[in-house]
Amino acid sequence: MLLPARLSPKQSTILKGALFILSLGPVAVLSVNAFTDNLGANPVEYLTRATGTWTLVFLCITLGITPVRRLTGWNWLTLTRRMFGLFAFFYVCLHFTTYIWFDQYFDVQSIIKDVIKRPFITIGFAAFLLLIPLAITSNSYLTRKLGAKRWQNLHRATYLVCILGVIHYWWLVKRDLTQPIIYGSIVLAFLSARLLLRGRKPKVRPRPVATAREPA
Ligand code: HEM
Repeated sequence: MLLPARLSPKQSTILKGALFILSLGPVAVLSVNAFTDNLGANPVEYLTRATGTWTLVFLCITLGITPVRRLTGWNWLTLTRRMFGLFAFFYVCLHFTTYIWFDQYFDVQSIIKDVIKRPFITIGFAAFLLLIPLAITSNSYLTRKLGAKRWQNLHRATYLVCILGVIHYWWLVKRDLTQPIIYGSIVLAFLSARLLLRGRKPKVRPRPVATAREPA
């Protein structure tokens, strides 16, 4: 492999810093477009769709880290998983905020009605709720406090969140299903790879990192 299995502390810091800045790219572009009045004819739809898409992208990246690591032996990928998971949460918070603020004007009754009435909103909301405990327990303190087994079991909910995210998208699309099919295939491929590679030892065993546990 061209890339090493492990990185030095300095390389890890640079990698994490670079990925962190890259992950902020979408929100930076959205902010610039918002401030320069460049969000198209329907800014709310634009924002809702962009933040929803980025949520799904970061969920897929998070799901893909373990199978790619197992296949390639790039154990340093583990260092990036928590960050990508938290970015998925960050983008879903922006997505949800856009919806409750600009679509629903903070009308709690209308939001509750919408969540109950429109199945794609129900599914998206369920995925959002499931992500909250995952984000809360992603820090080192709670990871240790929960213990490896319980933490792993809880974080297996990521699989369900990804599936619900795809169903949410699939359900809201009226005609062209190309995009949801692409995301659905990616999620299916990563979930199958995780199942197939379960128990397969990484080529080089990763150093124990408090936050680097993974749902099997
Ligand atoms: C993990 C959770 C979620 C994911 C992965 C997700 C993902 C997406 C995606 C990919 C889109 C379509 C983007 C496009 O058309 O290009 C979308 C649209 C949308 N989502 Fe979500 N979403 C999630 C949670 C939510 C929640 C919690 C709500 C509100 C309660 C919500 C409300 C909407 C709405 C209103 C749209 C726009 C529908 C339209 O334009 O017709 N989503 N979401």
